[in-house]
Parts: sequence; structure tokens; C-alpha cells
Amino acid sequence: MCGIVGVISKEFNVAPLIVSMLKKLEYRGYDSAGVALVQPGKVVVKKDRGVIDDIRERYNLTKMEGKVGLGHTRWATHGAPSHKNAHPHQDCRGEIAVVHNGIIENYVELKRELVIRGHLFKSETDTEVIPHLIEEKLAEGLDLKEAVKETVKKLKGSFAIAVVSSKFPHKIVAAKKGSPLVVGVSEEALFIASDIPAFLQQTNKVIFISEEEIVTLTGNKVEIETFNGQKVKRTIQTINWTYEMAQKSGYPHFMLKEIEEQPLAIKETLRSTNGELMEIVEEIVKNEGNLYFVASGTSYHATLAGKYIFAKVAGIPFETMQSSEFTEAIVPTLSPKSLVFAVSQSGETADTKVSLKKAKERGAKTIALTNVLGSSITRIADEVCYTYAGPEIGVAATKTFTSQITLLTYLALKSAEVLGLEVEEKFRKLKKLPQYLSKTLTTSNLAQRIAKEIKSHGDVYFIGRGVGYPVALEGALKLKEISYIHAEGTGAGEYKHGPLALISENTPVVAVVTPGPSQTKMVGNIEEVKARGAKVISIAPEGNKKIEEMSNFTFKINREVDEFLSPAPYIVPLQYLAYYTAVLRGLNPDKPRNLAKSVTVE
Ligand code: M6R
Repeated sequence: MCGIVGVISKEFNVAPLIVSMLKKLEYRGYDSAGVALVQPGKVVVKKDRGVIDDIRERYNLTKMEGKVGLGHTRWATHGAPSHKNAHPHQDCRGEIAVVHNGIIENYVELKRELVIRGHLFKSETDTEVIPHLIEEKLAEGLDLKEAVKETVKKLKGSFAIAVVSSKFPHKIVAAKKGSPLVVGVSEEALFIASDIPAFLQQTNKVIFISEEEIVTLTGNKVEIETFNGQKVKRTIQTINWTYEMAQKSGYPHFMLKEIEEQPLAIKETLRSTNGELMEIVEEIVKNEGNLYFVASGTSYHATLAGKYIFAKVAGIPFETMQSSEFTEAIVPTLSPKSLVFAVSQSGETADTKVSLKKAKERGAKTIALTNVLGSSITRIADEVCYTYAGPEIGVAATKTFTSQITLLTYLALKSAEVLGLEVEEKFRKLKKLPQYLSKTLTTSNLAQRIAKEIKSHGDVYFIGRGVGYPVALEGALKLKEISYIHAEGTGAGEYKHGPLALISENTPVVAVVTPGPSQTKMVGNIEEVKARGAKVISIAPEGNKKIEEMSNFTFKINREVDEFLSPAPYIVPLQYLAYYTAVLRGLNPDKPRNLAKSVTVE
């Protein structure tokens, strides 16, 4: 899980641009970084362990000379973060440099063969086989593109790579199989990157590279061909994300900005449906009862909310399973009658991609819901829908969670409509969801106060029922991933079956009391934990006096919010709570330790 970038210009030294592009991709990984510049007769590489700002200072990266160059920001998979394992990697003579995102599964065999043929390796990475393989192909007299083409045919696994060589000083060759890659086009330069925000400040004209394609950037020319050598014509697309949208806009952290962007983000989600997506709705409605969601992390919680919403508003039974378990538990049962609906903010989560591919192999109909245009799952699935929440940079998913739920709610209501159910009033309320979310932004102050109370606790427990259950799971995930406090979400009804033993004097328990039939039962569950001394923080419909009396703190949510609409507004106070707790503990919520924004390895 890494970010790769490359720039080719006729006019200027590209090193400062490469460094700033890497900064924008740091959310893809940030344990080491490096830059390679093509100079007459050589390729100069500077790299190290650490974050890009430190490495820039240490090695004077922006002063490096060259009009063609590559950069890399790493999240270690093979080989611990270190100077030698940082990218770019080189061949024996230092004439080639390669940056790579993904995993080369057969690198052990390839390395063994290369070592026998006399190649010298410096790192423990899987990537380093690539420059050595290219070195051999160049020595056979192939040009850079052909050498890369022959090399990628030998690689098993997933990769996006970019390559430069001092023998071909005016070229960048890049290739994609299983990891994202996109080209940016401007008058002054051509760009290659794992993701659009890397070059969005320079251009919003992009060309998406598809699976098993090689792209060559020379001067102002972009040439694409498949691994089999077929020429590909691809039009340039204009992306409407502004650079500012991908920046912090004055907020101290991306996460806070993204929490507060939620009313706008879900407005976009609703706008983009245009009252349509009928192909997807029809697939759902005509299915004979084998409907599965598949997703990971926060996206999984969105599907769990989706499962309840589809059941409640349309009587449609979705199952959901975490992507990492889906291939074992569900794939063997799939048939052409099944429908598999993958949900992924990035569209690049390896477990979700693999599940979708395997589902297709079993003949299942597949749907992808993602926030990233042209991402991998959109190229696998039969049907695609987008959340259009704008780029999410904070590692903790916030606005993409609520926009996923919004889109799933829309699809559930449309399905109910097709089934002849009365949903007009519900659609009217769905349109008001951005307003309801705006109101929940006022919970920020109370969240700051409660954060002071919980910041020194070792454990925080979250309980919920019905649609409140996925909210409790998500609230716990947010808190643990950015504040490093142990947080556990559980269905409130399960408490007496074990977890109640964990509650003692002053243990913080967050109770998600969503509207609907579960409210009364939640009163009982809160009583259970209170009787053991718990400090109760509740999120409940405004005016529920009973809950307020029982709780030490209550986040009050507009009473107009119906049960089927509640997961999105009810999660907002918990996103704030996690955010402020992390900040009070002196942590950077945008970059939690050990985690990265898109998890592109299984
Ligand atoms: O891009 P995806 O939605 O497929 O990502 C899935 C998870 O990795 C992601 O939701 C993760 O759990 C977030 N960091 C949670 O905030």
C-alpha cells in the first residue's frame, strides 16, 4: 500500500513537484519515501525511512536536478521500513529506477533466478526484482517500453509501477495490474500517479489506465498499449474535484473537515442518483433471495446498516459479510442466481476486490458502490454506482460512511417503490437528510467536553440495537483507530451473555438509542450497565427524558429523524468524540499508526 508518482517536463526541474505530489499521497502510506531523477548518463536516487518532510530536509530533495523523475511514499509490506527497503529501487548499474505499489507474489523465485545469473540485491523487498528484470531486457537490446512489457509478463500479483532509465532519458514507462494508476495531462508536464489528488493542483485532465496496460510518457505524448501489445485509444477526462476540495481548507485536520463536509457530501450523493440507478434496483428486486453485501471496516458497517434498512423499508433480505471472510464463507455457495454488492470507499481494498472477482467466477451478478471514479472494483463489477462524496484524505472514513449509507437508503427506497410499497413520504424525508446532518454538527461542543472525560480511560464500550448496532460498531472503530483507546462495539442485547462482566465503576458506555422499536429495550440495557456503575453517554432522539435522566451525557438528535434515516445523523457525534479524544491525547487523527487509507493487500 504505497503511493507512486512521476513527472516529465521539457521546461523545469521536476523534483519540487515530485515532493509536493508525494505529500498529497502520504495517506496511502508514510513509513518511507524516495525520489529518482534522470540526469545525463545516470539516475540519481535519494530515499530513506521516515515521512516525506523529514527526508526532504535531510537530503535536500527539492534541489535535485532533472526534468524526468519518480517518487514513492511507502507503507511496508515486504521488508521493514528502512533506507535500503525504501523506493525507488535500482538495477545493478544504477541506470534504472522503479517505484511500485502492490505485491509481487513470485518474487522469491524470480530473485533466486536473478541471483544465480549474477544480479546483486540491496533490499528485502519484492519490488527489487523489477529493475533487475528490466536490466536484462535492456541488455538484450529492447527499448524501455518493450523491456517493461516483457518484465510485467513475468510478475505475479498486483502492481502499479513506474520506470525511468538513463538510457531513455526522456521517458517514463508505467504499467498497471491490480493497483491504481492514473495519468495527468497539462501544457507544461505529464504526470503519473496512484491517485488524482497528487497532481490535481497542476491539472484536472486525467487518463485512467486500465488493467494490464502499459503507458509511455514522452514529451507531451501519452501512449497506451495492453500487455499483449494492442494499441489503446483513451480519451482525456475532466475531473470536477478542485484542488481545494482535496485540501484542508483551513481545518486543523482532514478528518474534522471531512466530518463537517458531510451535509454537502450526502447532498451530492443524493443529487447524483438523479432519481435513477434503475438497472441496479431492478437487479436487486428481481433477485430470488441470494443477496450479499461484501465490504471491510467502515464500509462493512455501512452495509450492516444497509441490511437493516433494506429489510425494514423494502422487506428485502441482504446478508453482509466482511470481505476477508467472504471468500471462505459465501463464495462456495454462490450461483448465477446470486447478487453480490461490494461497497468500498477507495474501490481498491484487496479483500473486497478478490471477493468480487471470485463471485463473478461463480457466475453471480455483481454491483460496486465506491467513491473513486475508475477504481479497481468499478472495472470488475457488472453495475457501478458512486457516492460522489469528494476525496477523503483522513485515514478514518467519515463522509464516505454517511454517503454510502445514503446511497444504500436511496436504493432500498427505490426497490420498495418498484415492489409497489408506499414510500413517497420516506423519499421526502430522505431529501431532508443533509439538513438533519447539518443539525448534528452542533454536537461538536458536547463531544469536546466528553472527550476530556474519556481521554484517560483504557476501555470504552459502545452498545446499540437495530440500526443503532452498526452505529455502535462504527463509533467504536473510529475511537480505537485514531485514539488508540480500546473500544468495543456490541449489540446491546448480547451484553448479558458476557460483556456485562467488563463493566465496573466509571466504565464509559456509549449507548446508541436510535428511534423505533428498539428504544424501549435500550432503556433496559442502559439500566443493566448503570447498575454496575457505568458512566453512560447516550445518543438519543431529542425529548427522550428517560434516556436523558439515566445518562451522564446525552447527544440529542432531531426527533424528525426516522429510524430508517438514523444511522447517518447518529454517527456524527461519535465521529467528533473520536476526533477530539485523539487530539486531546496529542495524536494526529489523519494518520493513525499502523494504518493506511487504502488496504491494497490481502
Ligand atoms: O476503501 P474501503 O472502504 O474498502 O476501506 C475499507 C476499510 O479499510 C476502511 O473502511 C477502514 O476501516 C477505515 N480506516 C475506517 O475508518
